[in-house]
Amino acid sequence: MILNASNLYKTYTRRGDEFNAVDQVEFFAWSGDFSVIFGESGSGKSTLLSLLAGIHRPTKGSIVFNGIDFASLTDAELSAIRNDKIGYIPQDAVFLPQFTVLENILLPRAIRDGKKIRVEDISELTDLDIFSKLESLGIAHLVNEMPAELSGGELKRASIIRALVNKPDIVIADEPTSNLDEANGKNVFELLTELVQFGTSVIVATHDARGFKYGNRLYTMLKGQLLPSGESDYGGL
Ligand SMILES: Nc1ncnc2c1ncn2[C@@H]1O[C@H](COP(=O)(O)OP(=O)(O)OP(=O)(O)O)[C@@H](O)[C@H]1O
Ligand SMILES: [Mg+2]
Repeated sequence: MILNASNLYKTYTRRGDEFNAVDQVEFFAWSGDFSVIFGESGSGKSTLLSLLAGIHRPTKGSIVFNGIDFASLTDAELSAIRNDKIGYIPQDAVFLPQFTVLENILLPRAIRDGKKIRVEDISELTDLDIFSKLESLGIAHLVNEMPAELSGGELKRASIIRALVNKPDIVIADEPTSNLDEANGKNVFELLTELVQFGTSVIVATHDARGFKYGNRLYTMLKGQLLPSGESDYGGL
């Protein structure tokens, strides 16, 4: 098992009242699993993914990734594991504005290797299969632009590739097709499926109905609770 979360809670306070954005969640994933989490807006999908990716710490409960308990790690150790082994695609793509798209995409690798961030030439990409992934998502021609010059959907696709540069064991994608058209959305699901076929574990939160087709483990999130699909009377979309 690559990821095992148990008795997971994330409690927030709003106007003095506490509520569980993640409420007693049990979740596990194996290599080669494609887990898809549906659920209405505000149900806690992004909060759960941020815990599983090690972005935020849970209020209670445990997350064990590749045999390592996140709770046993310092923030710096957790950041390093997240950078090297976990490909996290946030709901809203975040880019460093002073660097090109390509430099942003290669940032996780630069951090891992302790190298400079500047990339002189796209030919540096030949040792990676990143270039073919950029082409499969239709953004190879944009990599030398600055992030401010790209559309939201183009940045989203770039953030997907950025999450893959260190060949992570697990990819955690928060609405990876949210601002993409039909054809681009399909390309994203097919790229994720390719990773699954090579043994990567992929976890996606989405409102996209294609998740039903591509996922092998389906869940619905409802008010912080994660229900295996079929146990909820909420339709999921
Ligand atoms: N930092 C925070 N402090 C307080 N409440 C928060 C915080 N972040 C999220 N919430 C609340 O937690 C709940 C779950 O939010 P979350 O972003 O996980 O939902 P979601 O399922 O991803 O929704 P969407 O489909 O709109 O992205 C919401 O009620 C939200 O308002
Ligand atoms: Mg969300």
